[in-house]
Amino acid sequence: MESMVQVTNAVFLLNITTVGDRACMDASILVVVDIPEGITSIGKSSFNCCSSLKEIKFPKSLRSIGGASFCDCSGLEEVNLLHTNVHKLGESAFYNCTSLREMKIPDSLQTFNDDYGGVFEDCSKLVPSNIYVNNPCDSEAVVAYLRSIQ
Ligand SMILES: *[C@@H]1O[C@H](CO)[C@@H](O)[C@H](O)[C@H]1NC(C)=O
Repeated sequence: MESMVQVTNAVFLLNITTVGDRACMDASILVVVDIPEGITSIGKSSFNCCSSLKEIKFPKSLRSIGGASFCDCSGLEEVNLLHTNVHKLGESAFYNCTSLREMKIPDSLQTFNDDYGGVFEDCSKLVPSNIYVNNPCDSEAVVAYLRSIQ
């Protein structure tokens, strides 16, 4: 969307629980996003192609991250979900995040299976040793998953 190209800051209203689908799509100069407490889901393609996005603060309340939500965020280097309650990462959620090298995944995200297709596909800098999980069982699943998409 042309209109998103100038956006430098995104402020979310209190009392909303969802970041809408495509909310900040193509906001290519947006650098930092602070998603407030109370948000439980991030919609599809919400930050798709935010190529300058460097830092996202996720709230504890977060439970799901929608498909392609951070797809093509080529400036994103680290994502920390450890303190969240995320149990679902949508298809291609972090697809083609070419700078993403560190990912922290909470226990609430139980399994990686077919539902999580392409979540980290084409994240060429993300190697299993840079994926942190608390639970060793999850760790095995993460590694198996990453192998399966290479
Ligand atoms: C991946 O992102 C880069 C920009 O970082 C872009 O040039 C390229 O076309 C994208 N690849 C795919 C398969 O979408």
